[in-house]
Amino acid sequence: MESTLKILFVSSEAVPYAKSGGLADVAGSLPIALTEAGMDIRIVMPLYPSTKKVMLDKTAVIEKIAVPLGDLQLAASVYMTRSTKRVPALFVHREDLFSRPALYGSRAGDYYDNLERFTFFCHAVLRVARELDFRPDIIHCHDWQTGLIPALLRGPYNDDFFKNTPVLFTIHNMGYQGVFPGHKLNLTGLKGIDFYHQEGLEYWGNISLLKSGIVYADAVNTVSPTYSQEICTREFGLGMEGILNNRKDSLSGILNGVDYEIWNPEKDKNIPRNYSIKNISGKTICKREVIKEMGLDSSLMEKPIFGMVSRLDKQKGLDLLLEILDKLMALDTGLILLGSGDPAIETALAQAAKGHPGKIGIGTGFNDPLAHRIIAGSDFFLIPSRYEPCGLTQMYALKYGTVPIVRATGGLNDTVSSYEKGMGNGFKFRGANPEELFACIKLAIEFYKNRTEWKRIVTNGMKEEFSWKKSADRYIELYRKLKSQRMITG
Ligand code: ADP
Ligand code: GLC
Repeated sequence: MESTLKILFVSSEAVPYAKSGGLADVAGSLPIALTEAGMDIRIVMPLYPSTKKVMLDKTAVIEKIAVPLGDLQLAASVYMTRSTKRVPALFVHREDLFSRPALYGSRAGDYYDNLERFTFFCHAVLRVARELDFRPDIIHCHDWQTGLIPALLRGPYNDDFFKNTPVLFTIHNMGYQGVFPGHKLNLTGLKGIDFYHQEGLEYWGNISLLKSGIVYADAVNTVSPTYSQEICTREFGLGMEGILNNRKDSLSGILNGVDYEIWNPEKDKNIPRNYSIKNISGKTICKREVIKEMGLDSSLMEKPIFGMVSRLDKQKGLDLLLEILDKLMALDTGLILLGSGDPAIETALAQAAKGHPGKIGIGTGFNDPLAHRIIAGSDFFLIPSRYEPCGLTQMYALKYGTVPIVRATGGLNDTVSSYEKGMGNGFKFRGANPEELFACIKLAIEFYKNRTEWKRIVTNGMKEEFSWKKSADRYIELYRKLKSQRMITG
């Protein structure tokens, strides 16, 4: 039997404790799959107000611990809880840094002190592991918020405790690079001379915590095979393609999975009627209810309804959708969209909806139960992303018998296959332009009208299984490889 690995799993958000996007879904469900595969995990994340509300039990495991931030030593306390699946999670508590209405910023922009907040968090993670004597076999870090950890382990924490601890750094999105002014380097606790250079975390005169993660981790991965190749190009690397190419030998793509305990039409408590591949009739009720809830004309019951649940961000290709909206409505369709994020996109959508009363329903803000109802009640699910590292909603939509229409990029490309001659689960278009999106939608509607073909597409999708088990096994394989490499090279 293979040995159990001790894994310190570090993320700035995780379901059910705090969520702004897909990272939280991954950090919530991958540790469950790893635990089921016999691993010994501690999730570590900050304690936000939303976290307090869902913690089942709250035990202070460290009353007070000193954490450096530049020349200061600040106090933190640490709480621990186990989720319903009994994966232990540790929460770093510091009121002034993490007790805020949102995770990273307000509508006005990012919080001004995000460097301070996540530098503090990274130091705290390593100190907490030491204090609790949790000697990890691997540290698994996610996104820029944790990107300082691999560098810290080569600097102030390069000690006996962490001597043989490799770090895996997972990139969920190249668009968020954690860039801060170079003159703030002092805050991080890293010596400039060792770290602040082109091969280090210096990035055009600034500090980039994403770059720090990429450069100093033992290995780097992204959340789909296609995206791991894309980011080595100029278009998708967003300025980091050079350093990613330097690390090509240690870069891989591991597809995210789906937590079918949460995203499953057979047992979803958020939807008005459950249904399954064997008896899909409940989906019609979900459609009727969501049409009502979002204020659409009941006559649209017989027409194709397009759903979308998304962060409102340039990444997600909402501009492409806005460009074709009038033409889409002329095809006698309905659109239901739930989004939060960029206020300018929100305004543009609200404006467009006004022109089509009873045909477009827009929900704003973050509303998880509504997200479930839209995914269940729509016929099609639209994801016209300009880039998409993995994308989870297309995989959710498939399970709910909602046919995805996606741009062939990143994880969308790896999970959606264009329907043709009875095979395939959705529709894909290549170019990031409104013409190709519209042509793809028109083709998809033709299939919607043919009930035999439609049933086939829906069934093909519902049969798909993107379970975490397979991906967890790939992560474990990678953890073991990194660990044995460290034992050899030290
Ligand atoms: P990303 O992480 O880039 O936002 P993903 O597709 O990986 O994209 O994950 C998005 C997750 O966030 C999904 O679980 C989706 O349901 C959820 N989501 C996005 N926007 C909202 C919203 N406004 N309300 C509720 N859930 C949302
Ligand atoms: C990011 C990406 C998304 C991915 C998610 C989880 O936020 O934008 O594509 O699914 O992380 O890995």
